[in-house]
Amino acid sequence: MAIDRDVQMENVKGWWNTENILAWDKHYDSSDQHVAYYVNSRQQKVINHVQKFNLPQGSRVLELGCGAGHTAAKLCELGYKVSGLDVSEKLLVCAKQRCKNVVSEDLFDFRCGNLDERLPYEDESFDVVIAVGVLQYVYDINFCLTEARRVLKKGGRILLAQRNCSGMGLAFNSFREFIRSGVYFICYEENELFPAFKSILCDSRLGIIFGRFRNTSFFNLPFMTKGITKKSYTLKKRLYSYMRLRKVLKNALFQMVSCDGAYYCISEKVNNFTLNRNVDGFFNKITKVSFLGFLCCLAKTAIVCAQKKD
Ligand SMILES: C[S@@+](CC[C@H](N)C(=O)[O-])C[C@H]1O[C@@H](n2cnc3c(N)ncnc32)[C@H](O)[C@@H]1O
Repeated sequence: MAIDRDVQMENVKGWWNTENILAWDKHYDSSDQHVAYYVNSRQQKVINHVQKFNLPQGSRVLELGCGAGHTAAKLCELGYKVSGLDVSEKLLVCAKQRCKNVVSEDLFDFRCGNLDERLPYEDESFDVVIAVGVLQYVYDINFCLTEARRVLKKGGRILLAQRNCSGMGLAFNSFREFIRSGVYFICYEENELFPAFKSILCDSRLGIIFGRFRNTSFFNLPFMTKGITKKSYTLKKRLYSYMRLRKVLKNALFQMVSCDGAYYCISEKVNNFTLNRNVDGFFNKITKVSFLGFLCCLAKTAIVCAQKKD
């Protein structure tokens, strides 16, 4: 189903400014070990990559969709000058406070804005641009990445970390999610589907065949609708994989540098957190072996790094 740019922008803004969004501020210390491990390992990998660029102290980093500033604060601590842009005024308050706790105020700058609009920064002003778990909300990814390229200095790097729609963990939560993963892969879906048979059959490209049955009583049986959650905002969330991230970066005239993965989990719901952590440790080791590096495409988060060459 096609979505309108203004509707998406309005809904994204609405969603990220609701009262309960402050829960995101606590994600990194979540009592759910699985969530905490996931966001922290993703963040750590992104920071490791930034450090590998060997930039001098005071280099400028822009974080697109900086949320409550968890990554920004870590980068400030490491000596970078950090700017953050986010659509959520509530989370920006947390981000400012988090950075203020570690460095003086002249070393960071946060602004409220939408990635579907021109970025409020000068041309060629940053050494690095990062975006962690935000591009799924962007309506026009080519516009957004072209803007990121504009504000990057020549030779500057961009790091994208996005949930990987072909990660192995996504497929093994439940039978519905297994089927949904298959449909993502086979039908090359662009937007996230609910893990409910009704959504998988009607909202995907398979809707050409099954869409006409959407309102029949069979398609509305609890068995078919289980997994559909009612939301107050109808957001479309774009799906990304390594191939898609590479493609959008290439379209925006970036040159690929490297790929990595974060959190190799075998099931996102598995009660045995220790098992997931061991699997993660194992994959982190073997993906360091050059000819096994391609296995990073099984991780929950796809991380890609590219460069502005001219
Ligand atoms: C999943 S959170 C990730 C936050 C942060 N990057 C992190 O890793 O902790 C997504 C963030 O992107 C922001 N966001 C979503 N869509 C946006 C948009 N179109 N423009 C700017 N920020 C956006 C949200 O407000 C939220 O803070």
